[in-house]
Amino acid sequence: MIPPRCDLVLKEVTLPGGRVADLSISDGIVVHTGSPCPSDQLISCRGLTVLPGAIDMHVHMRGRVQSGKEDWKSGSMSAIAGGVTIVVDQPNTIPPLKTEETFRERISEAARDSVCSYAINCGVLPGTDLAALWRAGAMAFGEIFAAPSSYGESLDAQALRTSLETIGRLGGLATIHAEETMPGSPSDLATHNRLRGPAGETRAVSLIAGWQHHCRIHFCHLSTASAVAAAGSASVEVTPHHLYLSYEQAGETDTSCKVNPPLRTETERRRLWSVWERIDVIASDHAPHTMQEKLVPFPDAPSGIPGVETMLPLLVASLVKGDIDLPTLIAKTSWRPSEILGIPKAGYSPGDRADFALYGSESTRVTAETLHSRAGWTPFEGLPAVFPDIVIQSGNIAYDHGDFYPSSPRWYPGRGYIGGGPT
Ligand code: DOR
Repeated sequence: MIPPRCDLVLKEVTLPGGRVADLSISDGIVVHTGSPCPSDQLISCRGLTVLPGAIDMHVHMRGRVQSGKEDWKSGSMSAIAGGVTIVVDQPNTIPPLKTEETFRERISEAARDSVCSYAINCGVLPGTDLAALWRAGAMAFGEIFAAPSSYGESLDAQALRTSLETIGRLGGLATIHAEETMPGSPSDLATHNRLRGPAGETRAVSLIAGWQHHCRIHFCHLSTASAVAAAGSASVEVTPHHLYLSYEQAGETDTSCKVNPPLRTETERRRLWSVWERIDVIASDHAPHTMQEKLVPFPDAPSGIPGVETMLPLLVASLVKGDIDLPTLIAKTSWRPSEILGIPKAGYSPGDRADFALYGSESTRVTAETLHSRAGWTPFEGLPAVFPDIVIQSGNIAYDHGDFYPSSPRWYPGRGYIGGGPT
């Protein structure tokens, strides 16, 4: 039955199967798909690609003493302007999120400043009370560092295995940064690639994939086809930087491309596209650092690349070019993350969460000047991209041609949450 009135109608939306329908939205939910309900607000979607709002399962929103790199305000504006309506924040903050107190403070920070919806993972470090953080609302555990990375203390194999057993007993999801490192200090991108090599990454993934009987495992930012193949039945995440960039395309000592896992060769990058079907999730690993921090000798530069705002625009450009298809794009950026995390799905059917991003078909080029991250630079400069014109969050217009509007962002706690925090 068509409801008597609704808050917003998206008119003439082309659904993934090709059918054109009007989506009526009330209270943040799609209430009818078909002919429109009476409404004061209507957006014509003719000629636009209407995607369910993306969930970026891997961002580092920084804040506090790292606010020069990013904070919840700038990072979440960057997310929204890139068609991402929910981000999952990683716990390698300063201080790391390993106590209930720091976790609750993190939620309050996001509740105060974020313009997009968010979930927050908790740290897994020696001595962390994982059960307490799970009850406090952690969405998932990790990224757990199997090798050290920027601000990420690593666990040895035994400690990791014990943590997985605990996470399994709690019914949680372990999200893992799987790498092996060789001793030495890299002087350029090629050496960085060698010291944190593809073979070591695949070995680390294989070892950890063998522990899936302990708990559900999600591998973060796998960078090669061989690591993806080694993941067994665990869920697999891949980043836009490993899909669109190789170290061979960059300057030898270009610190803006220094990231963990490292950018690989052009051949590896192409092979990664060949396993597109197996990839569950595309996530950005948005890891902003300031240009000043990056403009130091290569060995001293921090690893990390900002990318939450460019993730969907790069992928939509590939969609427009015909390199990827609409159903797999939606699955990897919105529906699989929803399933993996237990967040209600955004979509086109009655009952779905009404988060959408509306894209035109004209490709532009990525340019740092127009991005919202405080980092102020991007390694994707000049690549083809289609940025969203309009972004809808919880049934409200959050972003319209460069302007931001209040739109009721919310916190998504994990399955272990027992209440008592901000909602
Ligand atoms: O390059 C990276 N930077 N990889 C990570 O895993 C962490 C991240 C950061 O937080 O800067």
